[in-house]
Amino acid sequence: MHSQNIYILGIESSCDDTAASIIHNGKILSNVIANQKIHEAYGGVVPELASRAHQQNIVPVVHQALEKAGIAKEDLNAVAFTRGPGLMGSLLVGTSFAKSLAYGLNIPLIDVNHMQGHILAHYIDEEGFEKPPFPFLAMTISGGHTQIVKVNHYFDMEVIGETIDDAVGEAFDKSGKILGLGYPAGPEIDKRAKQGNPKAFSFTKPKVDGLNFSFSGLKTGIMYFIQRETKKNPNFIEENLNDICASIQYTIIGILIDKLKKASKDTGIKHIAIGGGVSANSGIRQALKDGEHKFGWTTYIPKFEYTTDNAAMIAIVGYLKYLEGYSTEQNVMASARLKI
Ligand code: KG4
Ligand code: ZN
Repeated sequence: MHSQNIYILGIESSCDDTAASIIHNGKILSNVIANQKIHEAYGGVVPELASRAHQQNIVPVVHQALEKAGIAKEDLNAVAFTRGPGLMGSLLVGTSFAKSLAYGLNIPLIDVNHMQGHILAHYIDEEGFEKPPFPFLAMTISGGHTQIVKVNHYFDMEVIGETIDDAVGEAFDKSGKILGLGYPAGPEIDKRAKQGNPKAFSFTKPKVDGLNFSFSGLKTGIMYFIQRETKKNPNFIEENLNDICASIQYTIIGILIDKLKKASKDTGIKHIAIGGGVSANSGIRQALKDGEHKFGWTTYIPKFEYTTDNAAMIAIVGYLKYLEGYSTEQNVMASARLKI
């Protein structure tokens, strides 16, 4: 099997990043991303602008991915693409491009679920990174998703908890907006939290049954808190910014770790993996590491470039599906609300 040379192109266009990656027998040869800076001015992703930017970016991004990998498109064994979930206008660009490329080259077309991509990114061959053994728990945390998934095997996954309103990344970004920070605010809150006191202020944690999450109440709580305090002292935010950030981050981490603890206890699984842009957060990384001594967990955090939205994670899923002999029909449709 491994004497074979399998090259797969992965394409990701579910939100605001246009990305392409080439994987060779499980190892990433190139991982190219065109970010869309244009959304920063609006404080969030504008779907119409995203779709237009994908159309402009997709050809050069794929071209660059092939060039960096040092292969020609004729060397490809299959084309994998994100079918969903995501923004319909964005997904359509990647889907139609992947279809025509696979058709033109007469090679298999492989549809990929973006959420499976975040989880299976852990199976990319990468020096210094261990692959989690089955079964494990995967927590995907980003600006668009917050889920705990029980992963029994590559394509046997079960969502056992998810947010009922905002995603955790939105909790960071919306709190940051209240504090007057730029978009996305997550990285700055993280940076400031390191210099602040996490117990300076306390925010109420939501009460949600089972393994589900809720973050919209936290945002409202923070908003009222800031309104109240700035009425007393107009300089409250500037004078306490690091402490406010540290306290918000501390609360969010508490919410995530509480649910992970419960998930681990309920399932008896102690292998814990995370993925998604928020897994860059230094406080969350530390809290996971602490879980190794405190709860006997083994934790897995992918390389940073495979954790935010990227095409390498789509390419690895394409590769795993290719090995199983899987391919999809040309009439496959993008699906904004695709489930795991
Ligand atoms: O995975 P991602 O790049 O895109 C999707 O949303 O799918 O995640 C972006 C999110 C944003 O909400 C951003 O604020 C958050 O990840 N983020 C962070 C950090 N770095 C990125 N949140 C907290 N701490 C960070 N260091
Ligand atoms: Zn994502």
